[in-house]
Amino acid sequence: MKIIKVKDNVEGGKVAFDIIKEEMLKGNVKTLGLATGSTPETLYQEMVKSDLDFSDLNSVNLDEYVGLEASNDQSYDYFMRKHLFDAKPFKNNYLPNGVAENGAKECARYDQVIADNPIDIQILGIGENAHIGFNEPGSSFEGTTAEVQLTESTIEANSRNFAKKEDVPTRAYSMGIKSIMQAKKIVLLAYGAKKAQAILDTVNGEITEDVPASALQNHPDVTIIVDEEAAKML
Ligand code: GLP
Repeated sequence: MKIIKVKDNVEGGKVAFDIIKEEMLKGNVKTLGLATGSTPETLYQEMVKSDLDFSDLNSVNLDEYVGLEASNDQSYDYFMRKHLFDAKPFKNNYLPNGVAENGAKECARYDQVIADNPIDIQILGIGENAHIGFNEPGSSFEGTTAEVQLTESTIEANSRNFAKKEDVPTRAYSMGIKSIMQAKKIVLLAYGAKKAQAILDTVNGEITEDVPASALQNHPDVTIIVDEEAAKML
């Protein structure tokens, strides 16, 4: 794992953007794996203000809340359009459909999307409990797309974006850890003291399904971009 320490999320966004840009200019990127949450927002700002053209690229997102329409302003579909896709059109933007009628079929459909669009660079945030996508502690490293139950701590952490905690969906569709690990290159971003323990466990801890992001120790090309607070336990 390559660790890059940055001053703050603004510098982190620029560093992550430079990695994407370099790979794009080398012709190495057909599909970007994208993430939501507040962490990648500064990266998306860099992408939006850049002169890069993404219209030949596909994007595949990690996850979506079950039960939210794409038009709901709390959906990850909405988030991606607001922060990136409205300003920078891609060829195709893939996300799980939060209101699919049949969950099992939706997971199978999304696995096919991932198989048809092998991810060249996967952007990741990390939960305070070291979840990636919505793969909570205990998720199998062999997992593919699944409908998952969110933990109480994730619901609590994500409730800051909702009017009240009861509004936070309790389930989500998430790309599995096995699929994330198939990305050629992975860039994980983490900012703030709340992520320090998760970063320590991810980088220096035991590789265990209790720490979903620890799977990344087994990946040949992972860059972790952390600010001082998130890196303080390393
Ligand atoms: C959600 C997302 C994750 C994200 C995490 C952290 O649970 N499913 O992909 O990494 O939140 O969010 P934030 O970046 O806002 O701290």
